[in-house]
Amino acid sequence: MALDSPFCPRFFSAMVQKNVPVDLRSKLLKSAKRVMKNAHAPYSKFRVGAAILLSNGKIFSGCNVENASYGMTNCAERTAIFSAVAQLGPKIEIRAVAVTNDQGVPCSPCGACRQVIYEFGPDATIFFQSATGPKQAHISELLPEGFRLR
Ligand code: THU
Repeated sequence: MALDSPFCPRFFSAMVQKNVPVDLRSKLLKSAKRVMKNAHAPYSKFRVGAAILLSNGKIFSGCNVENASYGMTNCAERTAIFSAVAQLGPKIEIRAVAVTNDQGVPCSPCGACRQVIYEFGPDATIFFQSATGPKQAHISELLPEGFRLR
């Protein structure tokens, strides 16, 4: 299907995506970089910081928190989201997410985090480092057909 067809999912997601102003994007990235320094990553040595922008304009941030029992690790994105829910309750709406890491390598949210972002931000814009440089994607591009219990 042609990319410019209104029936193409990528065209559609671009249509509904609300633009995040450049100054807000920089603020988000700055916040993600700051919190990255608090990461507990003694096992992977890969520090990650994430910041989320809510539709009410508030910003929350989080870092990865690893555990000797590796599977108990919490990614930076989920730390930020859970922190926002803990502070404001479950009615938050995520407008954008920024992710950064201390190695300057490509790093998009993992599959689990994509599903958690989708829960609170089905129209969220994600800023991350891709293999070809900084990238912006709609959550539905990263997680087509995200799961919803309704
Ligand atoms: N990690 C994140 O925090 N976010 C991502 O988007 C990718 C991976 C963390 C989990 C683990 O602590 C480390 O990076 C290596 O996988």
